[in-house]
Formats: sequence, C-alpha cells, structure tokens
Amino acid sequence: MLDDKLLRELGTLKDQVRFSKKFTIDKDFDNVVVAGMGGSGIVGRIFSELYSEKPVEVVSDYQLPKYANDRTLVIGVSYSGNTEETISVLNQAQKNNCITVAITSGGKISGMGFQTVLIPGGLQPRSSLGYMLMPILSTFLDITNNVRDATFERLKNMDEDHSKEEMLALEIFKGQRIPVIMGFFPFSWVAYRWKTQFNENSKIMAFSNYFPELNHNETMAIGDTFRRDMFEYIAFRGSSNNRIEKRIEETSKITGVDFYQVTAEGNSIIEKLFFLVHYGDYVSYHLAKLRNVDPQDVSKIELLKKRLA
Ligand code: F6R
Repeated sequence: MLDDKLLRELGTLKDQVRFSKKFTIDKDFDNVVVAGMGGSGIVGRIFSELYSEKPVEVVSDYQLPKYANDRTLVIGVSYSGNTEETISVLNQAQKNNCITVAITSGGKISGMGFQTVLIPGGLQPRSSLGYMLMPILSTFLDITNNVRDATFERLKNMDEDHSKEEMLALEIFKGQRIPVIMGFFPFSWVAYRWKTQFNENSKIMAFSNYFPELNHNETMAIGDTFRRDMFEYIAFRGSSNNRIEKRIEETSKITGVDFYQVTAEGNSIIEKLFFLVHYGDYVSYHLAKLRNVDPQDVSKIELLKKRLA
C-alpha cells in the first residue's frame, strides 16, 4: 500500500504561503548569494527570477564566489540544516565577513550563530517550499495579505480537486513518457521544480528548459529526435509577454508536436507561481501512484549522504 504522507504534506502548502517570519537586514549590501541544494536550492532559483534590484547568484555547490565580501548578503537555505555543501558555503561566508543569514528547521546550521528563520520540521524539504520561500520574498518584496489569501484559496481548491493533474499523470504513464517541461520568465525555475518533483516523487527522469532560450537549440530536436514519441512536452502558458505566447504556438507548429498546455492561473505573480508549483506537485504525486512507487521515498539520496558523512 502506498504511504500517502506526501499527499498530506502537499496539503500544507496553502498554509505555508501565510508563514510570515522574515529577516531583519539592517546593513546595506551590494549583491546576494543564496546557497542551497535540491528541494532547498530551488528557493534561491525562484527568488532570483522575482528579484532584480541587486545581483543574485544561486550556489548549489561547495564554493562561495570569490567576490563575496562584507557587502554580500549570503542566505543559506537548508531544510535539515545539515547539508554539507550549504554548510561549506556558510562557513566561507562567515570567514569572509559576509552578512550571513539562514532558513532551516534545525540541524547544524541553526547553531552556527547568525540570524536564522526557523521553520517547522517534520516534512520533506521539497514539501516545504512555502516555508522556505516566503521569508525571503517577504523580506525583499511587498507580498500583501490579499495576495497571500488569494493564493491560499487557489491552493485549497487544488487540494480539493486535482483531477486535471491526475489526467496529465495518466497520459505520461500510459505513454511511458519522459516529461520535458517548458517554462518562461518568471517561472523558468518552476519548470525545473516540476523536473525535480518528477525525479523525487515519481522516480522518473525529466528535463526542463524555458522560452525563449529553447527556441535557439531544442527547437531543432523536438520533432526530429530519436524516439520522438518518448517525450511528453509540457508548456506553461499565460505569459504576460505576447512574444513568448507567440513563440510557444509557432514552436509547436514548426516542430509538428503538440504540447500539453498548463496555463498559469491567478491574479498575481505569486499566485500564478504557486499554482504552477502545486500543479506539478500533484502530477508527480499521481504519477508515483500510477507507477506504484512511494512518492515519499528518498532513500537513495539519504544513503548517499550517509556514505559521505
Ligand atoms: C527534497 C529532498 C532533497 C533535499 C536536499 C538538500 O525533498 O529530499 O532534494 O532538499 O538533499 O537537503 P536539505 O533541504 O535538508 O538541505
């Protein structure tokens, strides 16, 4: 029998958008480095598309960039607080006198001595995107209560009815297809989030790219690749840039391949963002059920961490 713990975790996302803790940054800074891996690393990536007042670099590796100094804000994001790559970057940030802060549910990072937003524990990191993202967004962007409430309602509706997501999962399952998710600004990294959810929840390979970049490479391959029918192309729709919308339509025509279309619903970027995130969450969850694999299981990731400890 499948353990539905992941389903229950997905149902907490709506409450997570109301999480209101944030950072107090009282020193001026020139640039931002966000460090994190996997389900925590996606937080910096999504933030980097929403915030462009200052340069943001996302590090999903061991090394702090050389330029980082006392005018660099370094934000470490690690759900467990024990991820060695993130700890390595945070250690270097402290040595370089960077303005260093973190988001975690505990672990070693919570004891490193800098400002930390503590979030609730007990979930899978990838099920805690709201808890990890909202403190950063609330610190740097103006997220009104109206936006939080509307997002809550939209996610609640999705929790009550995810039959469309199940249909897409069924299509992928029946064709035994590899999803290729095509995003666009400011949701390019949401497409990547879908990819990682397919990897971890459904245990299948998946890929992502974004318009307009994919018009300069993948467009040549979509209709002509080996095993053309092996791929399920999923295109986000609803860009506010009509050039992007035109590109999506023309790309489908030129390549002769129909894209499964998922239109971002909502009245704000935040609402649309969480809509798309949650849509992908449910598709990957249903695909896991259809494949009879446990969506919660990340034992190989954990085993690797143990072997390296
Ligand atoms: C997601 C997941 C992984 C972790 C990653 C980093 O659910 O299990 O992608 O997010 O291994 O670990 P944390 O998030 O604890 O820093």
